[in-house]
Amino acid sequence: TKLNVTDREGVTTDVDWEPGQSLMEALRDNDFPVLASCGGTASCATCHVFLPETVVEQLGERSEDEAELLEDADHFDEARSRLSCQVKQDESLDGLAVEIAPEED
Ligand code: FES
Repeated sequence: TKLNVTDREGVTTDVDWEPGQSLMEALRDNDFPVLASCGGTASCATCHVFLPETVVEQLGERSEDEAELLEDADHFDEARSRLSCQVKQDESLDGLAVEIAPEED
């Protein structure tokens, strides 16, 4: 599965997203600036990304922990924000466009 990632400088790159990986793991393994300081347990918000609105709808409700963290994030976008550690690789997401959210202020 492929990801189409836009970094904080606006540069777009295609990278692999391996089965079993979270989106955060794929981004981190491809050297994108995703700190993931909590290790993927929905408790740091440093893995914040923007996804297309239709995909956010398709993925369904955020968990309570994720929703709380995102709502406190500086660049929260109700329609597009997700914690990348909470999104699992899935064939139906091939070609997913991911934008790395700006750093917290
Ligand atoms: Fe910490 Fe996703 S890695 S919230």
